[in-house]
Amino acid sequence: MTDAIGCPLDVTDPTGLPLPPGDLGLPYVGETLHFGRDPHRFVAERRARYGDVFKTHLLGAPTVFLLDEGGNGWIFRGEGDYLENHWNPTTRRLLGGSCTAMLVGEEHTRRRRLLMPQFRHSAMSAFAPTFLRLAAAHYERWAAAGEPVTLIPANQKLVFELIVALLLGDDPSVDVAYLSRHFRLWTAGLAAVPVNLPITTYGRALRANRKLRAAISGIVRRREGLREQPPDLLGAILSIRDEDGRPLAHDEVVDEAHNQLFAGHDTTVTVMTNLMLQLAQRPDALARARAEASMLDSAADLEALRRLPYLNAVLDESMRAVTPVIGSFRVMRRDAVYRGYRIPAGWTVRLEIAGTHENGRVWPDPARFDPDRWLDEAKRPPHSYIPFGGGPRICLGANFAQAEMRVMLALLLRDYQWELEPGQDLRYRHIPFPRPRSGVRVRFGRQ
Ligand code: HEM
Repeated sequence: MTDAIGCPLDVTDPTGLPLPPGDLGLPYVGETLHFGRDPHRFVAERRARYGDVFKTHLLGAPTVFLLDEGGNGWIFRGEGDYLENHWNPTTRRLLGGSCTAMLVGEEHTRRRRLLMPQFRHSAMSAFAPTFLRLAAAHYERWAAAGEPVTLIPANQKLVFELIVALLLGDDPSVDVAYLSRHFRLWTAGLAAVPVNLPITTYGRALRANRKLRAAISGIVRRREGLREQPPDLLGAILSIRDEDGRPLAHDEVVDEAHNQLFAGHDTTVTVMTNLMLQLAQRPDALARARAEASMLDSAADLEALRRLPYLNAVLDESMRAVTPVIGSFRVMRRDAVYRGYRIPAGWTVRLEIAGTHENGRVWPDPARFDPDRWLDEAKRPPHSYIPFGGGPRICLGANFAQAEMRVMLALLLRDYQWELEPGQDLRYRHIPFPRPRSGVRVRFGRQ
C-alpha cells in the first residue's frame, strides 16, 4: 500500500531504510524541556523544518512525531500489531494498571466490547435529564453568586457530578464532595514532578489517591453484594464476565471505575471552559448559536441537539482550535515503515492530535476560531479531525461527552449570559490541559 505521494506505507523488511529527520537533543533529557515549555511551538517549528514526520527524544525515549492525517491512520491501524498503547510510569502509577486505557491486546478488546453498550449513543438519552438538572442547579448558583465566577473550578464541580452520575447513578449514600476533593488533589499530581514527599504536590496526590480509591473500593464492596446491578456504569463493570464466567477482581473494578472518573472529567472541563471563552470573544458566533438554541423545546432533547448545525459547528470548532487532549503516545513492538522511514522497535510514536488540528493544509488559518468552516460541504480527509482519537482506542466516552456538552451548551445559550472580567491573564498553559492561566473569570447571569 502507498500513501498519497506514492511512499510505501508499510513494507515487510524495513532494513536499510532511513530514520526520520530530526534531532535527538541532549543525552537522556533529549528535547523534553522544549516540548514541555510549549508543545504547539515545538511541533510548529519542527513541522516547518522537517515536514510531517520527524524524530526527537522525549521523556527518556527516542520518539517519532507523525503530524498528518495519514500518520494518524497508520497509528490507528497498527494498534496491537506493530505498535501498542504507552503511558509513562508516573501516570501509570497514578492511574493503576488494569483499566481500559492501560490494557493492551485481546484483554483491551474484550474489556471495550463489554463496556461499550453503556456508552452507545442510544444509551445517552437516559442521562440527559440528569445532565439538565445538575447543570441548571450549578448555573443558577453561579448566577446568584453576585460576584465573578472562575470557570475552571466551577466547571470542575459541575462536571464531576455529571461523571459520578454516569458511574454511580443516583446513589444518595455517595459523598460526592469527599470524592471530588480527593479527586482534585490526585489529578494535580499528574502534571507534577514525581517526588513523593509529604510537602510535594505529587506526594499529596498519592495520598489523596489512596483515600479516593478506598472510598471507591467501599462503594464497590457494597455493590458486589447486590443480586441485580443498577443500570449505571459501575453496574456494567461489575457485570463483566470472562469466557469462564468469572467477574473482574475487586481491584480491577476499582481501577476501571477510578479511570472512568479521570478520563471523563478534566477533558470536558477544558472544553466547556474554552468554549465559553471563545463565545465571549466572538459575540457574532454567540448570537447565531443562541438563535438556534432558542428554538429548542428542551435542552435535554439529544436528538434535536444533534441536528442543530451551528451549535455542533461551535462545539467541533472549539475542540479543533483548542484541542483538549493534545496527543498521546504509542510504543513500537517491531520495526515498521511510514512514508519511507524506518521506525524502530522500542521507539515511542506520538499521536499528535493538536498538530493534526493545526495543519494549515487542511485547516486554513488554523489559529482562528471559525465555526463557519464546519458549515460547508467540503470533504475533509479521514483522521484530520480527531479530538477523541481514533481506531481501536477511540475515546470510549465520546458519546457521553458529546451529549453532556451539547446539553450544557444549549442550556447556557438559551437561559444565561456571561462576559469576561477585564484585566485577566488569558494566555494558555498547555500541560496537562490547555487552559488560560486566569481560570477564566466571568460575570454570569440569567438572560
Ligand atoms: C471532551 C471530552 C473528552 C475528550 C476530548 C476525550 C479524548 C480522548 C482521547 C483523545 C482518547 C484517546 C487517547 C489515545 O488514543 O491514546 C480518549 C480515550 C479514552 N476516553 Fe476520552 N475524552 C473525553 C471524555 C471522556 C469521557 C466522558 C469518558 C468516560 C466517561 C472517557 C473515557 C475514555 C476512555 C476509557 C479512554 C481509553 C480508551 C482506550 O484506551 O481504549 N473520555 N479520550
